[in-house]
Parts: sequence; structure tokens; C-alpha cells
Amino acid sequence: MKIWTVANQKGGVGKTTTTVSVADALAGLGYRVLLMDLDPQASLTCYMQLDPDQVENTSYDLFNKPERIRPVDTGFEGLHIVGASMALANVEKRSSSIDGKGLVLKRWLQQHAQAYDYVLIDTPPALGMMMINALAACDHLLVPVQTDFLALKGLERMMKVLGMLAVSGAEIPHTVIATMFDKRTNASRRTYQFLKNQYKTRIWPGVIPVDTKFREASRLGVPPSFLFAQSHGIVAYQKLTRDLLPDDLLRASESPVASPHLARPVDKSSEALERPDQAENA
Ligand SMILES: Nc1ncnc2c1ncn2[C@@H]1O[C@H](COP(=O)(O)OP(=O)(O)OP(=O)(O)O)[C@@H](O)[C@H]1O
Ligand SMILES: [Mg+2]
Repeated sequence: MKIWTVANQKGGVGKTTTTVSVADALAGLGYRVLLMDLDPQASLTCYMQLDPDQVENTSYDLFNKPERIRPVDTGFEGLHIVGASMALANVEKRSSSIDGKGLVLKRWLQQHAQAYDYVLIDTPPALGMMMINALAACDHLLVPVQTDFLALKGLERMMKVLGMLAVSGAEIPHTVIATMFDKRTNASRRTYQFLKNQYKTRIWPGVIPVDTKFREASRLGVPPSFLFAQSHGIVAYQKLTRDLLPDDLLRASESPVASPHLARPVDKSSEALERPDQAENA
């Protein structure tokens, strides 16, 4: 089992989209993937069509009754989820009373997630108990950064945290991912160039382009490749995922034994599922 955390202290940079899209790509390569939502906003949970006011056995239970947690089948082949409930916000508020709980998630995953090949953790845009747990648990950190100058400050803060962890002996391998790249704008191109100069080997050499299909997929609550497999943003996430896989796993996933991603349709009207295709790559 490999654990990948997606984090950046800046909001709206594509964390949840990256979590869903990389998980989707891994499932497409035949891997069993567990999604973990650690964000009190519960965007990932909502994306997967669970109601954060109703869902039970969520990541909130990590901090009181971890034995209660049960991953839920998303209805898409290879994708399970531990959802987040709104109550998760209380954990951040009373974090002084849960001191020493920075390893709760890591312990739970070691005991209960061995059935999965990959765990993808989505985090809130703040350095609190959730992010600490997600950083402590992961083998690899993905840091999406919007190709916009305003997003660079958030990235700097994230890198400072990683630098402090490295000094204390807890270095986390990480990859910076340029998201929402719009090749038509100077701002996007210049920010990307800056990122490349600044983070050299730490930045994934590709970019995730702006692609309206991500919003459409989240509106419909389906993994992006399910409806828009050929769309340029989704193809970029598939390339990123393959680049992140160690060589031996990549070779294994390319063997004919690996199962294709046979996503089962969720309970949606055929009308809703057909509509976006008409605008494909508009
Ligand atoms: N490559 C992209 N092209 C176009 N839209 C995108 C792209 N990536 C993400 N989006 C859209 O941008 C919005 C913010 O993305 P997302 O929710 O993934 O960010 P986030 O970092 O998780 O935000 P938060 O910090 O609030 O959790 C969403 O509406 C999403 O659909
Ligand atoms: Mg999010």
C-alpha cells in the first residue's frame, strides 16, 4: 500500500480535483484505491455523492472511535472512500485537547487499509490537525499549485513546512504540480517558468491545463475519465499518474493482467450523462 497526500495551504488550487483525477487514473490502471477526505468542507465527499450531514463512519471518527470507520464503495470500480463530515471542523478547533494525535491516521491506515494498493488523501487548505496527520501518514506528497502569481505565496508556506519537517528528520518526498495552466495567458506561462526555475527537480515537468470538464465531472459526481476520457486535462492527469508510479509498478500495470477501469454507471439519468458529451472539448 502506498499513501499519497494532496496538500497546499492555499485554497482553490486543485487539491480535490487532483485527488479524484489521480485516484481515477490509478483505478484505470487496475489498482484498488481508497480516497480519504480530511477536509471539513467535505468537497471530495460531496463529489462522490455522499451527504456530509448524513454520512457515518467518517474521518471524524479517527479522533474518537477509529474502529467505527468503514470505507464506502463509490460505485466506480476500484474506488472506495472514507468520507468527511462537517463535524470534522470541531477537531481543528479543539486540537489542543487532542495533542499527540498526529499519528492517528497513519496507524489506522496501517491496520485497516492493507487491502488497497493506493490511498489518496485530500486535505483542507490550512495547517492544522488534519494536514499534520495527512503529512505524517504519507509516502509521497502532491502539491498542486495554480499557475497564477497569487498562488505562489501559498506554495511558499507549504514549502516552509516541508523544510521544517526535513530539518527535524521527517523529509517527505514531494512533487509540485502546475494546475489550471492557460497557455494563452502571460500570467500562466510566467508563473510556470518561475516554478520550474524555483523547484527544478521537484516540479512535475508537465502541466495540468484549464479544462472545463473537471467542473462538469464534479457536478455530475463521476470520476473525470468516466465521461471525458479524451479531454486534455484528464489525459494530463493520466500522464502525471504514470510518471509518479515507480518503474516496476508501471510495467506491471501495462501487462495484460491488469484490469481495465470498468467504471459502473452511478444512478444518474441517461440524459444527464449524455449532455456533457455533446459539448466535448468545446
Ligand atoms: N485544471 C482545471 N481546469 C479548470 N477548472 C479546474 C481545474 N482544476 C480544478 N478546477 C476547478 O476549480 C475549482 C477549485 O478546484 P478544487 O476544488 O480542486 O480546489 P481545492 O484546492 O481542492 O479547493 P479547496 O482549497 O477549497 O479545497 C473547482 O471548481 C474545480 O472544478
Ligand atoms: Mg478541496
